[in-house]
Amino acid sequence: MKIAVISDIHANKDALEEVLKDIKIFNPDMIFCLGDLILAGYNPNFVCEKIFELKNLFGDNFKIIQGNTDKMVANCNLQLIEDTKKAFPCMGYSLEEDVKITDKKYIDFVRNLPEKKRVIVNNLKIDLVHGSPRNQSENIYPDLLPETVEEMVKDSDADLILCGHTHIPCGYSLNSNKTIINAGSVGRSMTSDKNALYLQLTIDKEGKFFSEHRIIKYNNELVSKHILARGFKHCEDLASMYIA
Ligand SMILES: [Fe+2]
Repeated sequence: MKIAVISDIHANKDALEEVLKDIKIFNPDMIFCLGDLILAGYNPNFVCEKIFELKNLFGDNFKIIQGNTDKMVANCNLQLIEDTKKAFPCMGYSLEEDVKITDKKYIDFVRNLPEKKRVIVNNLKIDLVHGSPRNQSENIYPDLLPETVEEMVKDSDADLILCGHTHIPCGYSLNSNKTIINAGSVGRSMTSDKNALYLQLTIDKEGKFFSEHRIIKYNNELVSKHILARGFKHCEDLASMYIA
């Protein structure tokens, strides 16, 4: 069973298109999407349209959960915008604009997504989460102590936990026999080269699995210009995050 795991697309049309080309070559049986489709990019409707296409194409073999910024867009109100502007100005102004340009049917779609999902493939219990099993916004970073990660995943009895959220890929094989893999980000990578990332997962008939992070180049300078062209306050801070 071959599975493509994508996360944190963040309205980045160019990155998603290049990742989908690579996924087509991989030819997966299933696709898992770990949330954060919309906020802080430049083309949320294109991204959601592609997600709907994948959903139609793969049917029950397409699994998707909600990310923390999907929830922000879905539950957006003036207080949330003001609070976000104070904490992270470019994100607050982006949120204010993103809710205006995103089609209502897509906002309704992300509002109704579950925060996590259990999938069983060839007897392998897999939990799909955005941050950690206990918190949609918790960070599974590459430099954590194993005991810290054990604590974060203690409520899950899955064999494999797939997450995103930090935009930095990593993985842990824990003493409790759980494996946790952060798929990285398709559209807003926080790695030094800013390339898109996704995960290819292969599970054999006995439930043994092999995974590989794929690093995909796309025109991130052009995406940076698209974000700058949106013209909202502090968009230059957001645009600069796409340049290596
Ligand atoms: Fe994200």
